[in-house]
Amino acid sequence: MRLMTVADVDAVLAIEQAVQAYPWTRGNFCAALNSAYLCCVDEVAGELCSYAVLMPGVDEAELLNIGVAAAHQRKGLGRVMLSAMLEAACARQMSRVFLEVRVSNQCAIALYRCAGFVEVGMRRAYYRNEKGSDDAMVMVCDISSLSLAG
Ligand SMILES: CC(C)(COP(=O)(O)OP(=O)(O)OC[C@H]1O[C@@H](n2cnc3c(N)ncnc32)[C@H](O)[C@@H]1OP(=O)(O)O)[C@@H](O)C(=O)NCCC(=O)NCCS
Repeated sequence: MRLMTVADVDAVLAIEQAVQAYPWTRGNFCAALNSAYLCCVDEVAGELCSYAVLMPGVDEAELLNIGVAAAHQRKGLGRVMLSAMLEAACARQMSRVFLEVRVSNQCAIALYRCAGFVEVGMRRAYYRNEKGSDDAMVMVCDISSLSLAG
């Protein structure tokens, strides 16, 4: 696990475009890197396999993106990356981490629930899809209630 750099953006973008129906653009990742956002990547045998972007606020953070290369999914990398982002938020004195997730994205919702996120709201017609729009589930993780590894 290490911080993402501009040199990683091509590899991150390739994964993002393969695993997300509505992927972030190069500009989105570059803007995140140029902001005070926490952008991390993880590698397996020298190959970039996962990434995440966390936007810290004053005492709350928002997880903006997380992805794992298709060939490496369901091997625990998403859980490891999410846990690292929660630990980083905790280290920065954040008390809670929010996120929004497409209600149809059951894999991600299951991952977030495993990590201690709970649903706190719904944003109607938040995302576009091929038929029009999808709702977003708003989830929050109270970091102070977690016992984080490491
Ligand atoms: C969501 C995502 C990051 C999960 O990463 P991953 O490395 O495959 O997840 P993990 O192997 O760490 O799985 C952790 C838990 O999440 C849940 N989960 C992950 N993939 C799942 C799937 N395909 N079906 C059901 N549950 C799933 C399970 O509860 C799993 O625990 P288990 O394996 O003990 O049952 C990955 O599927 C991905 O990149 N998806 C596309 C991008 C995306 O949707 N990002 C989130 C929205 S921005």
